[in-house]
Amino acid sequence: MTSPTPLIAGNWKMNGVAASLIEAQGVAAGLGETKARVAICPPATLVERAAAALKASPVLVGGQDCRAEASGAFTGDVAAEMLADAGARLVILGHSERRAGYGESDAVVAAKVEAALRAGLEPIVCVGETLEERKAEKALEVVTSQVRGSLPAALAGQAFSVAYEPVWAIGTGLTPTTAEIEEVHVAIRAALVELFGDHGKSAAILYGGSVKPSNAAEILHAREVGGALVGGASLKAEDFLGIIGAL
Ligand code: PGA
Repeated sequence: MTSPTPLIAGNWKMNGVAASLIEAQGVAAGLGETKARVAICPPATLVERAAAALKASPVLVGGQDCRAEASGAFTGDVAAEMLADAGARLVILGHSERRAGYGESDAVVAAKVEAALRAGLEPIVCVGETLEERKAEKALEVVTSQVRGSLPAALAGQAFSVAYEPVWAIGTGLTPTTAEIEEVHVAIRAALVELFGDHGKSAAILYGGSVKPSNAAEILHAREVGGALVGGASLKAEDFLGIIGAL
């Protein structure tokens, strides 16, 4: 079994208007030879325009969340089918800002993953411990339990990735040590193999949380790290390209 193709995905969160697409185009224009698959996940309002702007480039477009249902009376929500229809190929699910801010449980995340697969979207499923959980030495337990609860059996044979994002490292400038990242990634890999057998070896395990050009090389070359999910540093083409170039 060959190792997973690395994925470097930018999560724009609730940032970006039409004028921001110049940064996405800058990523496409500046992307040299790379082993990685590269994706940008703009807010839902920009998915269609980003997909159009990046059509001729290898840069993929993803959503940041979706509803589990395909349609219905869910004011304000977006279905996986809608993201796919707008040109998305991937979708971030279970981000800690959704888990914490919207009370998304593992079961909700798993239902969203099934919705993504139904719509032909490749899920990037996020897991990660809080600072309190890390201090209590519960990081491995929390993360592997999120992996087991958020990844439905329907992922067997499907393309997907898992993003390990310690909650305390997101947007804070703090990052775990390389040894801490490796410890969690190795545990996630073991959980994936336990769940999906050999197929569990084909999913990339991304690291996310304060990845920037200056720390990307060390993180991206750590054991079992198969790419990155990048927030703040994905908003500027130059920074995002610096991270991709570190691979
Ligand atoms: P950050 O965010 O890179 O700004 O820390 C990462 C994420 O939330 O995916």
